[in-house]
Amino acid sequence: MTKRISILGSTGSIGVQTLDVARNLGLEVLGLTANSNIDLIEKQIIEFRPRFAAIMDEKLAADLGKRVKNSGTEVLYGLEGVNIVAAMDEVDTVVSSIVGIAGLIPTLEAIRKGKIIALANKETLVTAGQIVMNEASRCGARIIPVDSEHSAIFQSLMGNDSRGVSSIILTASGGPFRGRSFDELKQVTLEQALKHPNWSMGSKITIDSATMMNKGLEVIEARWLFGLGPDKIRVLIHPQSIIHSMVEYIDGSVIAQLGSPDMRIPIQFAITYPERFDNGFARLNLLETGKLTFEKPDLAAFPCLRLACEALEAGGTMPVALNAANEMAVSLFLNKRIAFTDIPSIIEQTMGKHNVNTNPCINDIIEVDKWARDVARSLS
Ligand SMILES: NC(=O)c1ccc[n+]([C@@H]2O[C@H](COP(=O)([O-])OP(=O)(O)OC[C@H]3O[C@@H](n4cnc5c(N)ncnc54)[C@H](OP(=O)(O)O)[C@@H]3O)[C@@H](O)[C@H]2O)c1
Repeated sequence: MTKRISILGSTGSIGVQTLDVARNLGLEVLGLTANSNIDLIEKQIIEFRPRFAAIMDEKLAADLGKRVKNSGTEVLYGLEGVNIVAAMDEVDTVVSSIVGIAGLIPTLEAIRKGKIIALANKETLVTAGQIVMNEASRCGARIIPVDSEHSAIFQSLMGNDSRGVSSIILTASGGPFRGRSFDELKQVTLEQALKHPNWSMGSKITIDSATMMNKGLEVIEARWLFGLGPDKIRVLIHPQSIIHSMVEYIDGSVIAQLGSPDMRIPIQFAITYPERFDNGFARLNLLETGKLTFEKPDLAAFPCLRLACEALEAGGTMPVALNAANEMAVSLFLNKRIAFTDIPSIIEQTMGKHNVNTNPCINDIIEVDKWARDVARSLS
């Protein structure tokens, strides 16, 4: 397949798996970015020979520049450098896989260049969904979801009239602590929270899966991607992670997408859409999988899901405050500064202090993000 891509966040879990897809399909990789992992990006540069690579820190970028000086890759730095990679003229598809709100500005940059966006960075739509979708339609950029649930919905909508949709059902594994009460969760350790039963992912999204904030962020992401009201988005616990999500139509039909829990499948589809290509990835064998089971989410044990739904209902900048408080609380938990159950408490208190701006611009969103981080930190 002839396709030219760039990857924002190439050293992360999604970035590395995207390079595996690129290797398989023989894609041209023209741009790579990372925050600070220059050892890994150096190896990626040597293998893929992109035109540009960008590192956030100027000193690390200078070090990387020396290491790869004969590779033909120009090393850039800072947000400006990442934005250059996001907006390269020669690129067809930009894979947006930076973690957190740090992915928002470069993704918007790619959207404004009318690129195809393979979107993994859910925080882009959580924090600025209205602006991002308006800009995509104004600039002719197409956003194809990478998140397995949204990819499943995207595929279950294909060939159907969206006016016939009754609801969408996002499935959730329930994470490592499914079945425990809120009181039992007070004692869980970082090591236990980092062990996801079905998926291997970056540390932030792994903790989000354990608190179920990940599903909450996905509800907000789905609201913007598919233009559906919150009342039409449902969550169902499905511990086996085989049905990735489903769409229920008004005539009673339910269309679902199934597959092995392997992120390379939705990553590949987002890049090759609407075509499909053979690959060597594991095939789903339902006889081996056995029973598929379903449960209601437990909102008392996992308040983060409830908080995300409340932030979506409140609208405006409330999801920005939710996301920033969550990023800060997760970072404090990863550094063993707070307990697991302090995460929802810090988020709820931060949201309680926030005065919603109902029609924010990007600068307002960045200001609220900073404000909510400061508040969340002060609550720890
Ligand atoms: N992992 C999954 O299976 C999965 C599934 C669905 C959706 N997603 C979404 O995809 C996104 C990426 O997830 P991930 O698990 O791949 O994360 P990850 O493994 O933590 O990787 C994050 C990437 O972003 C870079 N980065 C971190 N902070 C940055 C900053 N301030 N500025 C610029 N770059 C920065 C990292 O660079 P360094 O390596 O140098 O730190 C790395 O390349 C998240 O939004 C997540 O919710 C992930």
